[in-house]
Amino acid sequence: MCGIVGYTGPKEAYPIVITGLKRLEYRGYDSTGVALLNSGLKVYKKKGRVSELEETIVGKDLHAHTGIGHTRWATHGEPSDRNAHPHISVSGKLAMIHNGIIENYAQLKKELDNKGYTFSSDTDTEVLLNFIEDIKENNQCDLEEAVRVALKRVTGAYVILLLDSDNPDTIIAARKGSPLVIGVGKGEHFLGSDASPMLEYTKEVVYVNDYELAIVRPDELILKNLGNEKITPFVTRLDMELAEIEKGGYDHFMLKEIFEQPSTIHDCLRGRLDANAGTITMSGIQNNIEHFKNARRIIMVACGTSWHAALLAEYIIEELCRIPVEVEYASEFRYRNPIVNKGDIIVAISQSGETADTLVAIERAKENGAIIFGVVNVVGSSIARISDGGAYTHAGPEIGVASTKAFTGQLAVLIMMALKIAKEKGTISDERYTNLLHELDAVPEKVNTILKSAEDIKKIGLKYKDASDALFLGRGYNFPIALEGALKLKEISYIHAEGYPAAEMKHGPIALVDEKLPVVFIATKDSYHEKIVSNIQEIKARKGKVIAVITEGDEVIPGMADDVFYIPGADEIIAPMLSTIPMQLLSYYVGIAKGVDVDKPRNLAKSVTVE
Ligand code: AGP
Repeated sequence: MCGIVGYTGPKEAYPIVITGLKRLEYRGYDSTGVALLNSGLKVYKKKGRVSELEETIVGKDLHAHTGIGHTRWATHGEPSDRNAHPHISVSGKLAMIHNGIIENYAQLKKELDNKGYTFSSDTDTEVLLNFIEDIKENNQCDLEEAVRVALKRVTGAYVILLLDSDNPDTIIAARKGSPLVIGVGKGEHFLGSDASPMLEYTKEVVYVNDYELAIVRPDELILKNLGNEKITPFVTRLDMELAEIEKGGYDHFMLKEIFEQPSTIHDCLRGRLDANAGTITMSGIQNNIEHFKNARRIIMVACGTSWHAALLAEYIIEELCRIPVEVEYASEFRYRNPIVNKGDIIVAISQSGETADTLVAIERAKENGAIIFGVVNVVGSSIARISDGGAYTHAGPEIGVASTKAFTGQLAVLIMMALKIAKEKGTISDERYTNLLHELDAVPEKVNTILKSAEDIKKIGLKYKDASDALFLGRGYNFPIALEGALKLKEISYIHAEGYPAAEMKHGPIALVDEKLPVVFIATKDSYHEKIVSNIQEIKARKGKVIAVITEGDEVIPGMADDVFYIPGADEIIAPMLSTIPMQLLSYYVGIAKGVDVDKPRNLAKSVTVE
């Protein structure tokens, strides 16, 4: 996510702002910039790291007592110098930084285009900034009023910091959906996405709430709502240390990212899925819909957890769209001289967008005339850039090496893709289409419900933490989740684990089963339920320990399993987004119990950029 920093007071602003940006680097970013307000506005910004920005502006005029800074995680517009924040308004008098997504920015941009405005970036931020200035000039009102009027027109999430060269000691801030903290000092104020930029200066902070607007001066903090009514700032005392803040109060990034999933899945669906209107808006798919509709086959290329997302997509796309799907390990696909015909569609799935095996595989396929569709989390990454079309998962930066929130973001995108294609092809009934849209819309809340029972999974994990091996079994749509659960346990706790189709046990692996072997069944209520009950009985008959992830209300499996974990009911196509959550938690708690550095497990890299 983006990071924002601001300062106004008697000290030099630049050192405070640039240090504050370094404190926010953990949030992940691809470009950065500062705006300093002294006699006029000075803006320095570029693609790359904060340290690179620092080096390029050594010796420049950095004197100011008011300043703002930004680290950008690209959402609209690729990472570049021109798209970096702060942005400057057409008049040159205003500078703004923004964290969030303005969903209706295209509408606002159209209104400004019609008035002759031109833009120097591809960002929604620059549109909002000039929308504010346009209101200020046309309504002949002050900047504060213009911000209030503008934000009433905005849909989406934002936190903005605004400088006005006509008011050199003032910062105007507002938030909805993205975090904003204001540090209260003696004759000075600090602003940040969290408290890390201000910790050494003050522990007295005000958490700004949604739809609130702050006018911040060195010795004054005025808080108002968008109705222009004053609000008394509620000052609390911080008792967190820097390290804790970066992890949002969680012990590890992995746990933070697991618990972020209700909001990251919501962010992935936002602006795309409208269950009540029955629409899925995804320009990347729409622009390629004829290719998808007429595809003789779809090839999916990925690695690791992303490959598990591809496997689940195969089941869903074949079921809903009746298009043959082939799922390929990128490293194998790359070197086995595959048959790729001109016009074949290749879906490349990657959190980092930099995985060398996947990147090289699609480069070769592109040479053979294939159309590449990228499902990627990192905006502007290599795979995103080489793709002919795509859809971002909008999970925000994933710091933990184990992929968790990016995986559920991939599933959300792939399910929307399948539904959109099936609707266009007429291979899905209106009733099933509508039902699945509402089911998908309900996932964030159901994930929230599951996370509230995390302690139950922790108890199960601690019971089996000393196992030397484990099996994960599932059927149908749950088979990819069995594979994913096994991978999570391997990479986070170093326990050897294998995922299998549940029925596959009798073809050899069942020889492994004894009273020491924990066998995890993903056994949610679906069309395979009766069959998987038999598979559980096969394991029990050989004294295996059965841990079952089951649907609330299941009265059959609890009587035969050693441990059960309930998840809310959902359509079998949607259920994997839920059943993967206990798999993530299980590996996390076992890894912690075994003293593993779960954010950086041995031998692993977050992005495998070597073949
Ligand atoms: C996931 O938990 C693993 N860390 C790893 O398998 C990862 O999914 C794989 O390396 C692919 O990475 P990508 O999604 O960034 O391409």
